[in-house]
Amino acid sequence: MTAIDDSTVRDPDTLRADMVRALRDQDAITSEPVAAAFAAVPRHQFAPEAPLELAYDLHRTVPVKKDEHGLDISVMSAAHLQAVMLEQADIAPGMKVLEIGSGGYNAALIQEIVGSDGAVTTVDIDRDIVDRARMCLDDAGYGQVKTALADGEAGVPGGAPYDRIIVTAAAWDIPPSWISELAEKGRLVVPLTSRGTTRSIAFDRDGGDLLSRSYCLARFVPMQGDGAAEERKVMLRDGVAVQTDDVRVRLDGQALNQALDTPRLERWSGAAYDLPDELELYLSLNLPRAARLHAAEHIVEQGLVEPSALYGVPALVGEDSIAYRTRRENEDTGGFESGVIAHGPQAEALAGEYVDLLRRWAQDHRRRGAATFRYLPGPAPSSLPQDAVLKRHGIVTASWH
Ligand SMILES: C[S@@+](CC[C@H](N)C(=O)[O-])C[C@H]1O[C@@H](n2cnc3c(N)ncnc32)[C@H](O)[C@@H]1O
Repeated sequence: MTAIDDSTVRDPDTLRADMVRALRDQDAITSEPVAAAFAAVPRHQFAPEAPLELAYDLHRTVPVKKDEHGLDISVMSAAHLQAVMLEQADIAPGMKVLEIGSGGYNAALIQEIVGSDGAVTTVDIDRDIVDRARMCLDDAGYGQVKTALADGEAGVPGGAPYDRIIVTAAAWDIPPSWISELAEKGRLVVPLTSRGTTRSIAFDRDGGDLLSRSYCLARFVPMQGDGAAEERKVMLRDGVAVQTDDVRVRLDGQALNQALDTPRLERWSGAAYDLPDELELYLSLNLPRAARLHAAEHIVEQGLVEPSALYGVPALVGEDSIAYRTRRENEDTGGFESGVIAHGPQAEALAGEYVDLLRRWAQDHRRRGAATFRYLPGPAPSSLPQDAVLKRHGIVTASWH
């Protein structure tokens, strides 16, 4: 562990008070119960290995466990995201809450909000994580939080029904148990990944379906076990990959790789590029043959692929052609304009389709929270709408306002 210079380290109580103030300033905390919980729980006691400044950082996660490739499989989530999700959950005193994905800290926050008349259960698939969470919870005085070792895909039936279920790993689908274990007026808050983009969605029951109340940008470690994502990833060449979860999309790696060697076609939308997370969500769910294009830094430096692909960018794929979003500065407005790069024999057609979508978003839906999601459990209808996302246990649809 890195040695800490004592002269620069502030005490945990001051850091915690600063964190709560900053979370309020950034509108991550918007209610008194959530503020009180963040003020009460000693966050650093759930990250004993981390420097205090990291434990109380608003936007950084604290690593807890990595897989054999060095990728995070468990982290203490960033305080900002935890606050936003707790606000989405709208938890009240006396409620029964299930958290899927443990660490201890978030469960302790929830215990503070539900109080002594409420009950919190946290479940994790990894024994090391459950043991660690148990120890941290007991040490910090939250012995009443129940911990369980299981694949959260089945929920924790023994404690059902739950007023709230909060999932803290990126889920690709909503298994039947999360709906059946939810109370009649219950709420499910889940970071749901569709077409490669993850949003924390607060769902309420709407008859047999789930209907979203809010959503926000979220980044989480992936769900493991039976609920792991169903995605196909094809390497086009070293440092360039395309990925999709849409079974209807054909990915011909060789043809798409050849397309990259054809001259690039550039088309500009004339529309403003802003609210990037909202635009990305819209594109991911509305591109008719959507995949995600990823490019490594050396590929971007070579000029083969635009920087927009560094963290993955929504792409429209054809059999032998590909189009993806880019942007350029707009000197008149001081902002950016969105545009498209396309390669391959169908470049012109794909670029045209993509640009139309950029313009439609800018004209009709360019605002925060423009989407409402519905989750329909059960077998998919035989004629699936083009914009519906087919999952294992149901379908997701989005309507845009
Ligand atoms: C981001 S961490 C949880 C953070 C935690 N809630 C906190 O208080 O900061 C995600 C956790 O989800 C767990 N996880 C992944 N797949 C799971 C599954 N199928 N069931 C239960 N837990 C799972 C991982 O082991 C990991 O510990």
